[in-house]
Amino acid sequence: MRHVATGGPLVELRDVWKSFDRKQVLRGIDLALTKGTILAVMGGSGTGKTVLLRIASGLIYPDSGAVSLFGARIDWMTEEAMLPVRRRSGFVFQGAALFDSLSVFENVAYPLMEPEVVFFDEPTAGLDPTNARLVAQLIAQLRTGVCDTAIVVTHDVEFAELVADQMAILLGGNFADMGTPAEIHRSANPDVRRFLAGELREI
Ligand SMILES: Nc1ncnc2c1ncn2[C@@H]1O[C@H](COP(=O)(O)OP(=O)(O)OP(=O)(O)O)[C@@H](O)[C@H]1O
Ligand SMILES: [Mg+2]
Repeated sequence: MRHVATGGPLVELRDVWKSFDRKQVLRGIDLALTKGTILAVMGGSGTGKTVLLRIASGLIYPDSGAVSLFGARIDWMTEEAMLPVRRRSGFVFQGAALFDSLSVFENVAYPLMEPEVVFFDEPTAGLDPTNARLVAQLIAQLRTGVCDTAIVVTHDVEFAELVADQMAILLGGNFADMGTPAEIHRSANPDVRRFLAGELREI
């Protein structure tokens, strides 16, 4: 069945924790992504953006907390049970080099046919500003047709402003702030302000 019960969030994380060895990467993440929203998750290198995206999409499990995709709990769901859920979403891996061969549409949408959520990990990494803007245009294009809901992990503030309705800034394992780009620009958090100003790459 291709629907979400009672129009709830397509992606939902509640109090999600994740450590590697003794390093606590995520410390109680809460997130709810509703249909029609593009959320940019931003933060410095090594802050846990990729880990967060992989947990949200069911590629890895959290240590604790609840993760739901299309209204179904996926934390600790078996691989087999996950398959029908996976078919409804697309994941564009970090370093996927979108422009090497295919457009975003061909990379993401065509093989899946109409994904309901797409997870993008640094889709502009290594691209010059012109090509980064082109990726932003392709995501906007994707939105009007094939898929209107996405989480985009990026450290590129300018790109995030072009594509995102909502921004969340990852800092010390949790979101320092979350809101519309205008709200984020008015953030009272000094680390968020420094990150947006390009003064803070490792937060
Ligand atoms: N499989 C793993 N085993 C051990 N440590 C890991 C693993 N995956 C991630 N980490 C650690 O978790 C932290 C967050 O990594 P992650 O890749 O999510 O960062 P990121 O914000 O995506 O960084 P970047 O901007 O460089 O892509 C890092 O310290 C990383 O070394
Ligand atoms: Mg990453």
